[in-house]
Amino acid sequence: MLNSSTSILAIESSCDETAAAVGRRLDNHISILSSDVASQINIHALTGGVVPEAAAREHTAVIQPLIEKVMGESGLSGQDLDAIAVTVGPGLVPALSVGVTAAQTLAYAWGKPIVPVHHLEGHIYSALLAPASPAQTSNFKLQISKDPSLFPVLALIVSGGHTMLVFMKGHLNYQVLGQTRDDAAGEAFDKVARMLGLPYPGGPAISKLAETGDNQRFPFSRPMSKSNDLDFSFSGLKTEVLYTLREKYPSRPDTKSFAIPLQDRADLAASFQIAVVEALGLKVRQAITQTNPARLLLAGGVAANTILRHHLADIARETGLPLQSAPPSLCGDNAVMIALAAHVAFPAGRSSPWQNIDAKARLNLSAF
Ligand code: KG4
Ligand code: ZN
Repeated sequence: MLNSSTSILAIESSCDETAAAVGRRLDNHISILSSDVASQINIHALTGGVVPEAAAREHTAVIQPLIEKVMGESGLSGQDLDAIAVTVGPGLVPALSVGVTAAQTLAYAWGKPIVPVHHLEGHIYSALLAPASPAQTSNFKLQISKDPSLFPVLALIVSGGHTMLVFMKGHLNYQVLGQTRDDAAGEAFDKVARMLGLPYPGGPAISKLAETGDNQRFPFSRPMSKSNDLDFSFSGLKTEVLYTLREKYPSRPDTKSFAIPLQDRADLAASFQIAVVEALGLKVRQAITQTNPARLLLAGGVAANTILRHHLADIARETGLPLQSAPPSLCGDNAVMIALAAHVAFPAGRSSPWQNIDAKARLNLSAF
């Protein structure tokens, strides 16, 4: 147990959001004093996806004012901080490097250590410490590993870059049970959205369109349902959608899109969405049988998807397990989640001098 408070500035820039937050931990309570996210969605919507150099340029343009803003709103000075946390990977190196360099500069100037954080660890902690009320995202309670009703935890992390099942016997203890062999779930949403002529990012656009669609109309397969492991694969499903489009609808060679009637587009979106959701659910059920966890977690950008949230809630009810999902406002990339993970990792001894920090495109969840 800590006797005095610990304050951490957290920085995230792994993909297309620049984010900073300041959190303070006192005993087992973490309060978020300030937080902000600058999204680059409008810029990447023009190219239909994230161009790493464009992302890096935009991060560079906004990161310093963003950090100044959250520091100002927190009421703390650099000297009041105990550490600076930053996402060091995995992600786009040009994008990650902007956050890492900003953290290194401040750590050097203020004489503070750096807490390196794995991006997915951040997503996990946004659900692991999630408050009971999803609207309440500034006060978090740290649950202690020794309580047997809290661990082990089975976490499903679904984002634009990753789809992963992680088993945790305690805080900061990660065992990857399965992951995608090709496209991540969010990436499949983004690519199928493009085929349907929907804007980037595709996940929210598909789920909106699917609201008016019939999810039984196109019988897409549930990928990997017969595999004997806990891995995922979404690239075949994406190709299945493409073949359906090629077979049924005339293509518009000039725009590389298809002429699809509106109701069919909604039916395609709904049928694709339910295939992804059920494919994820199948593996969650198998993982529950294999590992017998005490609770389930759902986190990552795709965790904002209502149908997925409902599906996992059904599984939780059937198996009698509590489900904690990241609050919708913390599903997408943000720095609150990095601050939460850092407030657990720092007191456990994770900290480095600024010289020893590097941005990494690939990074093992158990790297620290
Ligand atoms: O976690 P995140 O913000 O960034 C990464 O770490 O990748 O996840 C972004 C992904 C994008 O692929 C986006 O299309 C997807 O999350 N996403 C959704 C929804 N909202 C965002 N996918 C399905 N349904 C949604 N409502
Ligand atoms: Zn993410």
